[in-house]
Amino acid sequence: TIDNKVKALLTKMSNEEKVGQMTQITVTNFEVTGRKGVIDAAKLKEGIQKYHIGSILNVPNPGAPTVKRWREVIATISDEANKTRLKIPVLYGIDAIHGASYTQGATLFPQQIGLAATFNTELVKEGAQISAYETRASSLPWVFSPDLDFPRNPAWSRMWETFGEDVYLSSKMAVALVQGFEGDGVGSKYQVASCMKHYIGYGSTTTGKDRTPSIIPERILRQYDLTIYEAAIKAGAKSVMVSSGEINGTPVHASKYLITDVLKNELGFAGVVVTDWKDIIYLYTRHKVAESNRDAVKIAVMAGIDMSMVPEDFTFYTDLLDLVNKGEVPMSRIDDAVSRILKMKFELNLFENTVANPKDYPDFGSDKHIQKAYETAAESITLLKNKESVLPLNKNEKILVTGATANSMKYLNGGWSYTWQGENSDTYAADKFTILEAFQNKIGKENVLYTAGADLEIENDEEIEKAVALAKEASKIILCLGEKNYTETPGDISNIYMSDSQIKLALALAKLDKPIILILNEGRPRLISDFESKMNAVIQCYLPGNEGARALVDIVYGDVNPSGRLPYNYPRYPNSLEKYNRKYTESISEGEQNDDAKYEKSYLPQYEFGTGLSYTTFKYSNIKIDKKEISSSDEITVTVEVTNSGFKEGKESVLLYLSDNVASITPEFKSLKRFEKVILAPSETKTITFTLTPQDLKFVNNDLKWISEKGTYTIQIGDQKVDFLLQ
Ligand code: IFM
Repeated sequence: TIDNKVKALLTKMSNEEKVGQMTQITVTNFEVTGRKGVIDAAKLKEGIQKYHIGSILNVPNPGAPTVKRWREVIATISDEANKTRLKIPVLYGIDAIHGASYTQGATLFPQQIGLAATFNTELVKEGAQISAYETRASSLPWVFSPDLDFPRNPAWSRMWETFGEDVYLSSKMAVALVQGFEGDGVGSKYQVASCMKHYIGYGSTTTGKDRTPSIIPERILRQYDLTIYEAAIKAGAKSVMVSSGEINGTPVHASKYLITDVLKNELGFAGVVVTDWKDIIYLYTRHKVAESNRDAVKIAVMAGIDMSMVPEDFTFYTDLLDLVNKGEVPMSRIDDAVSRILKMKFELNLFENTVANPKDYPDFGSDKHIQKAYETAAESITLLKNKESVLPLNKNEKILVTGATANSMKYLNGGWSYTWQGENSDTYAADKFTILEAFQNKIGKENVLYTAGADLEIENDEEIEKAVALAKEASKIILCLGEKNYTETPGDISNIYMSDSQIKLALALAKLDKPIILILNEGRPRLISDFESKMNAVIQCYLPGNEGARALVDIVYGDVNPSGRLPYNYPRYPNSLEKYNRKYTESISEGEQNDDAKYEKSYLPQYEFGTGLSYTTFKYSNIKIDKKEISSSDEITVTVEVTNSGFKEGKESVLLYLSDNVASITPEFKSLKRFEKVILAPSETKTITFTLTPQDLKFVNNDLKWISEKGTYTIQIGDQKVDFLLQ
C-alpha cells in the first residue's frame, strides 16, 4: 500500500532529506539570471542535491509556456531528482485556477465567482476535469485551487476567486471542483491534486483589504467558514494552503489550534498543509509574533505546517534542520509532515512518471473543451435587469459598443491568467474574442460603432464626447464597465464605487434618449447606484474567461437564454453591505417599508443574491411537504412544481431557502439549503424534489455545538412557502 511505501521510504531518510521535503522554493531561484523560464542547471542541482527540496512553486513569468516547454522544464527537474540517493520526485505547484491558465493554448473557464453563478455543479465538475486534464498535459500535478474563502466584505480584492457569500453554495461548488480535479483519488494521469485555500478566515478582513486582520468568533467560524472546508475534505481534497491573515490576533500560520487541533485532528484532514507565500518569514517580519526567523519556523512547524512556501532562500531549511538536530522540533512532527508529502507524491504516481506524454492528451485545447468553457460562461452570465424587455436585441440594429473593458481579453480573464495579474491575456489569447470582436462577429463590423469612451481610471472628456457623438448614430448602446485585472493586494481599493471616469461616461450617455445595455465585467460588485436607474438592461459577466465574450453576445441576441444567478448581494450603498441571509434586525418587516422613509435604506441591495432573469418566465406552484411535524432525526421531503410559463426554452435554478422562525441564537432571515438547475421547454412543468436532513436544521450554539431546536420552520421555493414543526 501507499502507507507502507511511505513508511519504508521514511526510515531511509536523513534529517536533511526530511527537512528538504518540507521546503518549497520558487522556480525563479533556479533560473538563469535575467532569463525568465530558463533553468540554470547548477542552481537546480544545488536546490535538489544540497537542500533536497521537496517542491517547486511556479512564479508566473512574462511568457506562458507551451505544453512542450512545460515538459522540458519538468523533465529537467525530474532528471535532477532522479540523480539523488532516494530519487524522490519534486512536486511542482501552480496557480492554475481557471483552467491550465499558465499554458499557451489551454482552455480557460470563468473564474470561480462565475462558476458559482451557474448553480450547476455538474457543469462545474466537468470543467474541473478538463482543467485537470490540460494541467496534467502540461506535466503539472498540483493546483492551488479551489478557493474556499468566505468573503465578508465585497470590496476584498480576491472576492472573484471565491464562490460568493453563501456557505451552502460554496460547499457544493467546492466539492464539484475537488471531485473534478481529483476524480477518485488522483491516481490517473488526467487528474491533479487540489489545494483548498486559504485556511481559514482569509476572506473576512474587516477593512476588505487583502491580508489585513479578521475578527471572527469561533461560533461563526465553525458555522460558515469551516463548513466549506469540511465538505471539501470529505470530497478528498489532497492539500490545503494556510491563510496569510490573522484571526482575533493570531496569525493562522501560528495557530496550532486551527491547524492541528481543528483541521488535522477534528476534521481528520490527512493531506499536506502548505503555507502561503513567505508566510513563515512574515510571522517574524510582519506579524511580529516571532523574535527571529528560526523562532517563526518553530512556531509554524509546531502549529502543524507541513511544507513552507519559503520561497526565495534556504533559511527555512537551515533553521528547521537546526531545530530538529537540537531536539527543539520533535521527529514525530517532522515525520508526520514528510509522510503527508510523500503520500501525495505516491498518490500522484510521481515516482513512476512526472513528465506527461503529449500523445496521451489529444484533447488539450480541443473544440470539445472550448465548448465546455463556452457553456460554463453562458450559464454563469447573469441578467440583472431587463426593463421593458429591451433584450434580446435585434440583429439588424446598429449599436455602439463602448467602455474601458470592451476590447481587451485581460478584463475577461482577470488575474492568475498566463501571468500573475493576467496582464498578458491580450497576447496569449489573441485568437479569442473581446466583447467588441464578438459583437462584430455576430452582426457584422458595419453594424458596430466603437470607441473606448473611458479609461478605467483616468478621466477623458474627449473620449466621452466621441462616444456621445457615435451614440447618436446607433439605436442601442452597449456600455462595458468594470475593473482592471488584479489579484491580492494590488487589487485593494478604498472606494467600492465604479471608478469616476466610468461613471462620468455612463452619465453622459444616459442623457441621450437611447437604450443602454450595461455590461459589467468585474471581480466584485462596484457600486452603480449613481446611474443604474438610467440603464435599460444590466448584465453581470464576472470574469468569464476566454469564451466569455461569445457567450455574452449570444445572450444579448437571445441565441442563449440567460440562466446565471448572482452568488452575492450586490450592494447599493457603501454602508449597506448586508448579506442575503441577514438577521431580522437588518431587514424591514413586512408593512414597514412605506411607513417611514428612514427605513428605506435598511435592506435594499441593488440586486439580491439569487437574482437572475431569463427571457422566459417561470411559475412555481403546489409546494408540498411529506411531514408537517418531525423529530430531530427525521428527514423531510419537499416537492414543488416549476412551469415554464413563457415562450422560450430556459434553464431555471430552483433555490430552496429555510428559515428557522425562532431560535436561541438570532436566526437568519433565510438560508439557502438546496438548489437544482432544470431545463424547461415552453409550457413544460417539472416536479422538483428536495430532501432536507436533520443537519440542515442545525446551527452552532455558544458551546460550539451543532444543534437544532424545537419550533416552526419555513421552507421557501420561489414564491411558494410551507411550514413544518420540529417537535
Ligand atoms: O496560491 C497563491 C495564493 O493564493 C496567494 N499567494 C501565492 C500563492 C502561490 O502563488
